Amino acid sequence: MLSAAAAERNKEPILAVLRENVNTGRPLQALEISSGTGQHVTHFAQALRNITWQPSEYDRQSLFSIEAYRARYQLNNVMPAMHLDASLPYQYWGGIQPESLDLVVNINMIHISPIACTEGLFKGLEQC
Ligand SMILES: C[S@@+](CC[C@H](N)C(=O)[O-])C[C@H]1O[C@@H](n2cnc3c(N)ncnc32)[C@H](O)[C@@H]1O
Repeated sequence: MLSAAAAERNKEPILAVLRENVNTGRPLQALEISSGTGQHVTHFAQALRNITWQPSEYDRQSLFSIEAYRARYQLNNVMPAMHLDASLPYQYWGGIQPESLDLVVNINMIHISPIACTEGLFKGLEQC
């Protein structure tokens, strides 16, 4: 399990924003793009049980870490992590279907990745 200090610091403030905006109580489908270590998705999933979370990552090492967090917390509302390159069209996003998502979460990817990732992210959001 990898651990990022920034994720540890900001996971609770981000959860507070999610609680305000998506804590509807009804079942929702969420995709996290660039899940990193897996700290965020497992933290959010414990607090927001009505949301089914699909974590994803570009980096293979991070995919192993997300799976380690899933194994540690045994959350039935977190799906197995999938490989996703945000710079690619959404048709390559692991089988995500058009208009199938209620929520897409992306934390701290835009500023560290090539512009193609931000462009791909926003194009994909229009479809999913
Ligand atoms: C600063 S880290 C943030 C990770 C996590 N969201 C967090 O806040 O702890 C940036 C992340 O963007 C991911 N990333 C880089 N290129 C990407 C791409 N083409 N598609 C999706 N994610 C990418 C990296 O693997 C890394 O996990």
